[in-house]
Amino acid sequence: MAQLNVTDLTFYYDGSYDTIFDNVSFQIDSDWKLGFVGRNGRGKTTFLNLLMKKYEYKGTISSPVSFDYFPFPVTDKSQNTIDIVEMIYPDYELWKVCKELTLLEVDCEVLYRPFETLSNGEQTKVLLAVLFSKENNFLLIDEPTNHLDMNTRIVVMNYLKGKKGFILVSHDRFFLDGCIDHVLAINKANIEVMQGNFSTWWENKKNQDEYELAENEKLKKDIKRLSEAAKRTENWSDQIEKSKIGSHSPDRGFIGHKSAKMMKRAKAIENRSLTALDEKSKLLKNIEDTDELKIIPLKHHKSTLVNVENLSVTYGDRTIFDHINFSISNGKRIVLQGKNGCGKSSILKIILGEDIPCNGKVEIASGLVISYVSQDTSNLSGNLSDFAKEHHLEESLFKALLRKLDFTRLQFEKNIEDFSGGQKKKVLIAKSLCEQAHLYIWDEPLNYIDIFSRMQIEKLIKQYEPTMLLVEHDKTFVNEIATDIIQI
Ligand SMILES: Nc1ncnc2c1ncn2[C@@H]1O[C@H](COP(=O)(O)OP(=O)(O)OP(=O)(O)O)[C@@H](O)[C@H]1O
Ligand SMILES: [Mg+2]
Repeated sequence: MAQLNVTDLTFYYDGSYDTIFDNVSFQIDSDWKLGFVGRNGRGKTTFLNLLMKKYEYKGTISSPVSFDYFPFPVTDKSQNTIDIVEMIYPDYELWKVCKELTLLEVDCEVLYRPFETLSNGEQTKVLLAVLFSKENNFLLIDEPTNHLDMNTRIVVMNYLKGKKGFILVSHDRFFLDGCIDHVLAINKANIEVMQGNFSTWWENKKNQDEYELAENEKLKKDIKRLSEAAKRTENWSDQIEKSKIGSHSPDRGFIGHKSAKMMKRAKAIENRSLTALDEKSKLLKNIEDTDELKIIPLKHHKSTLVNVENLSVTYGDRTIFDHINFSISNGKRIVLQGKNGCGKSSILKIILGEDIPCNGKVEIASGLVISYVSQDTSNLSGNLSDFAKEHHLEESLFKALLRKLDFTRLQFEKNIEDFSGGQKKKVLIAKSLCEQAHLYIWDEPLNYIDIFSRMQIEKLIKQYEPTMLLVEHDKTFVNEIATDIIQI
């Protein structure tokens, strides 16, 4: 066990007024399984990049171990997987990589196939296997679960549970709970390190927030009471002063004594007010804004919006799936589940009217308005105002929704390509919330989205009950919102 020390770290991106880290210090141990949580854009990826020495910073980071970053950027995916393994770790030992792959339930033969032919899950697992085959290495694992199906998430979770010495950024509550023993949280006003899993940290945060809210209320009342008392004392003092000047003054000594007593009382009230104000100013700094979101779905006159019968999809000579039957009625929230590559996104695209080679019957109610959130965010660029114009969104509503999803005003001045992963996905969610539609089709909406906003979205869906067709692998979310689950 060795210690990694961060002391007085300060960092901001060149040309930006947004200070990401301001004089922060903390310590972590190199054999922890450390979950790294915090809202989108708080600087998790940036911090991992600072550990990788990608940017210059002020302060010191001292570490007895060397770091590796996941995901390793694979530029040419047509290469054989074993060549990519060698690129990541030139001194790799085949038996060790294979041993790790076996633990991840992947056959070693994938190493001899082009990387692009591997499923998302297999690609993730190969990268993890190579990195974990290194010794005395501390892994920085940035959101490994995005795009992974539920079963693969469980395999990776159990794998990580058997390892130690990593920082894992994830927004998946179930996944975090299954494999970490410490939490590093970037809160609104500070960074904290805590023993336990996600639920332990969450309980603690909830209790702390509740305590602070109650304490704040109490102090607010105290301050009001004290200010009223101060006013009363002031009035009395004035009256006493007046009686000193008046001609019927009975006893000047007595009045002087009373006046001194009043002054002492005024001073005491002022001191108590200052202490209360000071205590109050220390509270609520870490309470996250999770204002309620709003959506205005349209209601279709027909009860069945989509009907799919005997649907099959064949790419080339490969049948992706066949004989799928389901229908979407008003008010339903249907979640499509199944292994990576089983054709979930294809089904969504067929309903959206895209030209996908398929057989079977797909009936769409006439005049059906659909709002769509795509899985991919890589084509987003430019500023938010232009994005709103291009998509005919009411700019003020769109930006108000983003503010509720924790965007600062500074964020509005940046281009979308400089946004963090979660901030980009939030742009698509906010766009969909602005759109009035009969049916909301969301493809893996929660990838990259922070936990607080996941909860905001859960709450919104339960409150407004829009009709939805979703692909999503976040177990906690699906349990909360799905009315039906269809296994492909
Ligand atoms: N090249 C850049 N130029 C300017 N600002 C940037 C740049 N890259 C990132 N940022 C900003 O820095 C902040 C931190 O980004 P970072 O990607 O570290 O967040 P994160 O915590 O990893 O978020 P997420 O949970 O969405 O992945 C964000 O506000 C982002 O907009
Ligand atoms: Mg990130």
